[in-house]
Amino acid sequence: MPLTHSKRSALVMGAILAAGLSACRQDMHDQPRKKPQSASAFFADGKTARNFVPGTIPHDATDDLHANDNRWLAEDEAFYTGKLDGKLVETFPLKVDAELLERGRNRFTVTCTPCHGRLGNGEGTAVARGMKQPPSYHIERLVKSPPGYFFDVMTNGFASMYDVADRVNPKDRWAIVAYIRALQLSETIKYDELSAQEKQLVVESTKKHEETAPHGAQEASHPK
Ligand code: HEC
Repeated sequence: MPLTHSKRSALVMGAILAAGLSACRQDMHDQPRKKPQSASAFFADGKTARNFVPGTIPHDATDDLHANDNRWLAEDEAFYTGKLDGKLVETFPLKVDAELLERGRNRFTVTCTPCHGRLGNGEGTAVARGMKQPPSYHIERLVKSPPGYFFDVMTNGFASMYDVADRVNPKDRWAIVAYIRALQLSETIKYDELSAQEKQLVVESTKKHEETAPHGAQEASHPK
């Protein structure tokens, strides 16, 4: 029996489709994508990777690690720059408590002591090996400098000191400023002027510190 016209054209279509599909076959392991950092002949700048549209922010930037990161909205000028209307801030733009100070001590020890020393007197181990010696935090000019100044030095660097903005997030920078203030206070405050309770705390923490301190750290804990 001869094929009807419609059956015949369906067969022809099927043959064309089958031929076309086999020619276009592309397996999943071989996808049409660009590798990271690869070049592109398509975009004018020659890069495959595209920049974010200006003003882009991640929708989930609320976790602890990134909430205070200056890559995000950073609208709080004092918190993110240490300045308000271009003037260095004289007060801390966050609550200073024992937890922040402890964090500051930790970050200061990791990031600053190689050059500035544990006491902030500019006698770090890197200096002993030939790095330029920074000024002591206990000179009058730096004792009188506002918190915003220290934040600014960390954020933008100062003379031959590089900035640490890429490795110390803004909140940790404030924690370090708070700890530097505590270090400065520790140089001038008189043990005799402390209350009995405060003296007791000094004695206790000195004992604790001496039991756990690494070599060379003991001098930091002796009351005057
Ligand atoms: C690699 C060594 C090095 C490290 C690490 C370092 N600094 Fe400095 N810092 C210096 C030097 C050197 C100077 C003096 C720069 C100059 O006068 O050229 C300085 C200067 C300063 C000053 C004084 C600026 C002034 O007005 O005189 C401050 C404040 C300061 N640093 C804070 C910090 C803090 C906070 C950290 C840790 C987050 C830090 N630095 C880490 C080397 C360092």
